[in-house]
Amino acid sequence: MLTKEKVDTIFHGEIIGKDIIFLESATSTNDVAMEIGMQRENPEGLVVIADSQTHGKGRLGRKWLSPSGVNLYFTVLLRPSILPNEATFITLMTAVAVVRAIREYTGLQAKIKWPNDILVSGKKAGGILFEMKSGGNRIKLLAIGIGINVNMSINELPDDIKELSTSLKTEKGETVDRAGLLGRILAEIEESYKILLNGNKRALINEWIRLNSTLRNKVAVKNHERIISGIAENINDNGELIIRLPDGKTETVNAGDVTIVKE
Ligand code: BTN
Repeated sequence: MLTKEKVDTIFHGEIIGKDIIFLESATSTNDVAMEIGMQRENPEGLVVIADSQTHGKGRLGRKWLSPSGVNLYFTVLLRPSILPNEATFITLMTAVAVVRAIREYTGLQAKIKWPNDILVSGKKAGGILFEMKSGGNRIKLLAIGIGINVNMSINELPDDIKELSTSLKTEKGETVDRAGLLGRILAEIEESYKILLNGNKRALINEWIRLNSTLRNKVAVKNHERIISGIAENINDNGELIIRLPDGKTETVNAGDVTIVKE
């Protein structure tokens, strides 16, 4: 069970999770966090967690299935002093934190698939959706929404995504304590965020490269109805993917769906 009492005993950092709001049900923790954040003087580090969501949102307008009693759905609010076009880097930083926490807490060899899918055994076990409010070319609020399939049975998923999805329990063969994992993730986000605030972007990029499963593969990236095929060569300082095309030129993409092409 995930309860307010349990959530209150987990990690409270200097920045992340000073205040943690627990809801039994939310529309979407990203929406709730944004609303609360707009009303507060200093919402940096606020965490909103829900046991279930009625309108869970995935990337690219998709739905995020959010049944109660099994998974983690939460949002961390940040207000970094970076430009809106640098904000994708925050997702990269978050993916590093989530994968490190899953590895440490469960022993599973989680990996990052660009841009921000969390994979275990090559299947999707979680994802990150960041949304922002900006104005005057500054970020006003950044909502980083994290969804992890922790103890869900994969049979609960619709047929079209079942094949490509998994949960930590499915992979580990035993139930994973959600509050314990959440605490570990928040601690890792705090650590990564401090590394970023100290200006050490390179350390986070190197860690992302160590933990990713995309680079050096032949990929097809669907980006706004276009499909770009080539070798996933590198990521740049903004976390964008650099693809080497068959004609030797490169193309940089900042969003899309990656399929690894098996030869
Ligand atoms: C993806 O498509 O991979 C991203 C999924 C992100 C889901 C999380 S669950 C908590 C937060 N609230 C939402 O509505 N979405 C994110």
